[in-house]
Amino acid sequence: MKEKLRSQGWFGKTGKDGFIYRAWMKNQGIPDYEFRGKPVIGICNTWSELTPCNAHFRELAESIKRGVSEAGGLPVEFPVMSLGETLIKPTAMLYRNLASMDVEESIRANPVDGVVLMCGCDKTTPSLVMGACSVNLPTIVVSGGPMLAGKFQGRDIGTSDIWRFNDAVRAGEMSQEDLTISEACMARSRGHCAVMGTASTMAAMVESLGLTLPDNAAIPAADARRKVLAQMSGIRIVEMVKENLRMSDILTREAFENSIITNSAIGGSTNFIIHLLAIAGRIGVPLELKDFDKLSALVPVVANIQPSGKHFMEDLYYAGGLPAVMKEIDRFLHGNAITANGKSIRENYEKATCYDRDIISTVEEPFNPLSGVVILTGNMCENGAVMKPSAADPKLLSHTGKAVVFEDIDDYKKRVDDPDLDVDETCILVLKNVGPVGYPGMPEVGNISLPKKLLTRGIHDMIRISDGRMSGTGFGTVILHASPEAALGGNFAVIRSGDTITLDVPNRKLTLNVSEEELTKRRKEWKPKHKIYDRGYVSLYQQQVEQAHLGADMVYLRGGSGSEVSRDSH
Ligand code: FES
Repeated sequence: MKEKLRSQGWFGKTGKDGFIYRAWMKNQGIPDYEFRGKPVIGICNTWSELTPCNAHFRELAESIKRGVSEAGGLPVEFPVMSLGETLIKPTAMLYRNLASMDVEESIRANPVDGVVLMCGCDKTTPSLVMGACSVNLPTIVVSGGPMLAGKFQGRDIGTSDIWRFNDAVRAGEMSQEDLTISEACMARSRGHCAVMGTASTMAAMVESLGLTLPDNAAIPAADARRKVLAQMSGIRIVEMVKENLRMSDILTREAFENSIITNSAIGGSTNFIIHLLAIAGRIGVPLELKDFDKLSALVPVVANIQPSGKHFMEDLYYAGGLPAVMKEIDRFLHGNAITANGKSIRENYEKATCYDRDIISTVEEPFNPLSGVVILTGNMCENGAVMKPSAADPKLLSHTGKAVVFEDIDDYKKRVDDPDLDVDETCILVLKNVGPVGYPGMPEVGNISLPKKLLTRGIHDMIRISDGRMSGTGFGTVILHASPEAALGGNFAVIRSGDTITLDVPNRKLTLNVSEEELTKRRKEWKPKHKIYDRGYVSLYQQQVEQAHLGADMVYLRGGSGSEVSRDSH
């Protein structure tokens, strides 16, 4: 042990203060010797019955505790705000930063020497990692694991099928009764979404950053080996405390680059970008939107997983897991980056084996030669926008079309199925005011469903552009995170129906074909249309949230305050 344990600043005290710190803890049946120099490990749990993806976490926490105790630590489990993607209104993203504050202050204020972050459903990973980064104690992440693939009418299904089923019902190709039956068929086991949606992307993000033990990303939640990983993580965090291996030792610029490259190879969610930018901002590693394009450009998609491909997360695990993917893309990675188990990332993946080339392809013969994400710039999105070409229609990647503009989500809902809507499949649908400030909270509505009159004609993809986000399980030719958002009054705010837009993915350009003179005139006449909140957290959020290209964190949450308690009042 290099330094005195932080927890001894509480439990190692004598007199009244020491009495208070220990006595109440003893009401849980903890013997006195547990407080005399054992590393105290906080288990930060996002269990909630309102976060179904994390509903198995109390059981999983027992495995972590077993590991901590076995290694000579004292495990203490504590709850933090849990963000369930499916239930929270208006959008879980609105509360990501709030949850990160809960995590940060809960860790700093309490007598813990190291932390295990229990993450699962989409926002529970970035919020916990962001908060923990701002304290920077030794920290390891344990993800809850993906669900088993769904089974419906003789075929495998997953979350991405929601979009297909919804369109099929709207087009009259699927009955409402079958849709209801499919609900239980899709979510048939514990765990988070079974495809490479945002939750699985986040689980892969923390593994490729080096914050977990190998194989964290893909072991199914229902597989007994998930509990083994949890127990081993419990053992390891005690060692990390003894080695004083902190988050900042692992989260170097090289680690971030490894994560971006890996995300490209797995066709991960576009949400990866916004969350990784926010995490980098907390730990103090310089990272910009353009880094994602630059680092992804040469990396093809090798993981054939939905929504970019056809398989599921459990298939990825059986085929060799994320270590087999990283071994395949070794030539692009910084193999020496250190990870939570004290080994380099290359040491963690070099013995991996690919058992199925249909699931993990080679780089030479990739599943999809397109990189996972591209960053677009142009006069429509001066600070950038993102898209996932691997999930898009290749025919639309270079296209000019007439804009059909919806001023906000209510305008879209009101008019999209109007038979008189002036739209055909060559048009470009534009949805405004779904950004961080405008909605507020930047919901996952960017992959808006197509007008019914086009769906019934068999049209299933069009270019769609918004300042919002898209579910990691979504797909299509969808451009997201346009910055600055419409609520701030840039060019995106003044696009009108009938303007023409050119998407040029090979040259990374998104252009509004309107003269600068006309745009200047429109910007002068522009008035905000979004609702402005004047109380509570949402008011604070609207005033302080950064734009998407910076990670949509709060301005005042960038960086960290470390693990010192600002005033030791006892
Ligand atoms: Fe929780 Fe998809 S809804 S991961």
